[in-house]
Amino acid sequence: MDARDIRSAYLQFYAARGHHLIDRADLVPRDDPTTLFNGSGMQQLLPYLLGTEHPAGTRLTDSQPCVRVQDIEEVGDNRHTTFFEMLGNWSLGDYFKSEQIPWFWEFLTEVVHLDPSRIYVSCFSGDETNHIPKDTESADIWADLFARAGIDNARVDLGTEEHGGHVGNGGARIAFYGGKNWWCRAGAAEAMPVGEPGGPDSEVFYLYPDISHDPAYGEQCHQNCDCGRYIELGNSVFMQYVRTDDGFGPLPRRNVDYGGGLERIAAAAIDSPDVFRSSLLWPIVEQVQTLTGKSYDTHTRSMRVVVDHLRGAVFLAVDGVRPSNKEQGYVMRRLVRRAIRFAFDLGVQENFLQKIVPTIAHLYSDAYPEVTERLDDVVAALVKEEKAFRQTLRRGLRELIRMSDQVVSGDELFVLYDTYGFPVELSVEEAHANSISVSEQWRTEFDARMRAQRERSRAANKMHL
Ligand code: ALA
Repeated sequence: MDARDIRSAYLQFYAARGHHLIDRADLVPRDDPTTLFNGSGMQQLLPYLLGTEHPAGTRLTDSQPCVRVQDIEEVGDNRHTTFFEMLGNWSLGDYFKSEQIPWFWEFLTEVVHLDPSRIYVSCFSGDETNHIPKDTESADIWADLFARAGIDNARVDLGTEEHGGHVGNGGARIAFYGGKNWWCRAGAAEAMPVGEPGGPDSEVFYLYPDISHDPAYGEQCHQNCDCGRYIELGNSVFMQYVRTDDGFGPLPRRNVDYGGGLERIAAAAIDSPDVFRSSLLWPIVEQVQTLTGKSYDTHTRSMRVVVDHLRGAVFLAVDGVRPSNKEQGYVMRRLVRRAIRFAFDLGVQENFLQKIVPTIAHLYSDAYPEVTERLDDVVAALVKEEKAFRQTLRRGLRELIRMSDQVVSGDELFVLYDTYGFPVELSVEEAHANSISVSEQWRTEFDARMRAQRERSRAANKMHL
């Protein structure tokens, strides 16, 4: 099954179980000033998870394009991307653990045909301070499913991440963790504002046994180890708590909020730990190979950055974002310019977005028709940005390299930003890549110059009034 088949099979699977298919939300959330982008399927459903009745009922499903740019510099490994699709299903006070867990297991093993003996899971180990019990109920359901498939179902309590790395899971199928298995928008229970919903979750991982554990990530391997042997495919959040003034209380209804990584499931379906080999990304990689005459096998990281960032930028453009110097527009600018910069290293010195954007759009023409409907505008916006940046790219790079015998200050980074359009993070990254030292206070120095520039232009605007 390729990624498109998996997406439609998933939506059909949940439709057959009484779920209403809802429209995806825009990448830029409409009523949520706390975050720049939709990074999870549940964001558009917040009022309903808190108790409001949803007009389409209590069982919902969709596939939600998501953007997560916290770790933009981390893109380049086999599984992290700034843009991805999250398959989602929700129960708003309807079914709970005993339906959710077996259904997801059935989808993975009987629809996608993953190898059940390579599926590992994690559950919440409990929070004594906040009186939230250990989730043995989910663990029991998993243990039963594994036993019925003739698979070992040992449990291990790993508590914290560090502990996990120290002792490893010893091959145990079900691992209990603390904070790692608590899901809320704030990231951690302690960071949740009053009124915020959250709950324990149960994650599903696929084991790639041919990958050896890398001790750089901890002595031993386990479900949440970052070495890449276990790759998370999906997460069922049992959203039943709300933050109160003095701890946690129950939500009016017990909900399920499930999110799964389409590209990761699609990669697992072809037995590859590399999401870039999945059918939604590989055609873009192939085109980059053709354009550059270089091979993905030898230029893996640069190609991943180019492919990931351009896919994200295309979707942002589809949803109306345009490159600029603030908020969503600045993230988009960083994505496009970083992609052009990495492509430059691959030998692409001429404009190439005009060629690549239609390839990306074509991959989504069935699931998101708006991508092809808005293609002309999207191409125009990206090509304009490419032209603007490419004009100064070489000069900016030369300027940066010229600074190699000194410590580059935030002031100089500001000049690169202002004159050549280098997003400051890109310059810092570039400096590090070329062993050029950067002042430890670069951010403060840079911000001060930015503020001064803003004040100057404000004053100038006033004079014109
Ligand atoms: N909301 C959950 C997540 O994003 C499913 O992982």
